[in-house]
Amino acid sequence: MSRSKRKWDHIQYALQTGQKRLTGFDDLKFVNQSLPGSKLDSVKLETEIGELSLSSPIFINAMTGGGGERTYRINRELAIAARETRSAIAVGSQMAALKDPDERRSYEVVREMHPHGIILANLGSEATVVQARAAIDMIQADALQIHLNVVQELTMPEGDRDFEGALARIVEIQQSVGIPVVVKEVGFGIGAEAAALLYSSGIRYVDVGGYGGTNFAEIENKRRNRLLTFFEDWGIPTAASIIETKSASQELSVIASGGIQTSLDIVKALAAGADAAAMAGYLLKTLMENGTEELIKEINLVKKELAIIMTALGVHTIGELKSVPLVIAGETYHWLEQRGID
Ligand code: FNR
Repeated sequence: MSRSKRKWDHIQYALQTGQKRLTGFDDLKFVNQSLPGSKLDSVKLETEIGELSLSSPIFINAMTGGGGERTYRINRELAIAARETRSAIAVGSQMAALKDPDERRSYEVVREMHPHGIILANLGSEATVVQARAAIDMIQADALQIHLNVVQELTMPEGDRDFEGALARIVEIQQSVGIPVVVKEVGFGIGAEAAALLYSSGIRYVDVGGYGGTNFAEIENKRRNRLLTFFEDWGIPTAASIIETKSASQELSVIASGGIQTSLDIVKALAAGADAAAMAGYLLKTLMENGTEELIKEINLVKKELAIIMTALGVHTIGELKSVPLVIAGETYHWLEQRGID
């Protein structure tokens, strides 16, 4: 199967399988503050995540690139939406463009459309230092995402079966590229063990890519009618993954992702310890069903709602959200209790 067919399949099946809202965010509840002492006009959404200064905590996460005209257009529109909403954006895996220069334009268009924005390059953990540098140069990236997707690979008959050496390669890349390296999952979640290994190896940015939104086991099974269905329920729900990752080290900068759809999901993610929040499947669906203008409106609405929720909670900055009271119920409570994480 050609790489370009695979990219298009991922988009089609991601739209078809949708997002199931199994992230665990429903288990996180805020405590109403009747005397918040806050003022909507004083709320600031600007934030810093490590070395990156963001105008709001919202990222458009890695989705696509390569694969011809259709993915070119999707990336172009996502980049326009990122520019108009002053959001950071990650491109999809650039391996395609490193192997075939004709594929470069669908990544380069992201920088063309969003010349002053924060843009993240993206490769898998099989990448070499030379490939990482080339991916960064292709789009003058401000940071590099390296995705980990073991369960997705195992679900694909032609997928990788050898995961040796991934951490060593990531460390080598992060020591040579000179910009932040964000290690991310793709919907199965990063847990405390992996986060601790990453932290002790010098990695400082993690995108949890938790379970409960886009489900790549389901997407890969649908593409081939194969029945590795056990992987469809496999993963660390996003809410638990944020708290697990942060428990490995408070010094890790954490991007929440996996099934994030609403302003309330984002505020809960930030209150649970994340520094920013990234959305993929939900924004893709909005773009494909309603177009670029609606996507821009939706992101702007989410930003407005973030400020309203922050006002209700009595905070004026994104950083202050980390200390608002949060009650954890249900499965997320039991998950964290059994894992010995407060
Ligand atoms: C993705 N995702 C992804 N991630 C990555 O690191 N490199 C990639 O090339 C892709 N490609 C891709 C294609 C499509 C169509 C989708 C929907 C997603 C994964 C994405 O960045 C994210 O981690 C997961 O989709 C979980 O987040 P959501 O979709 O539940 O918000």
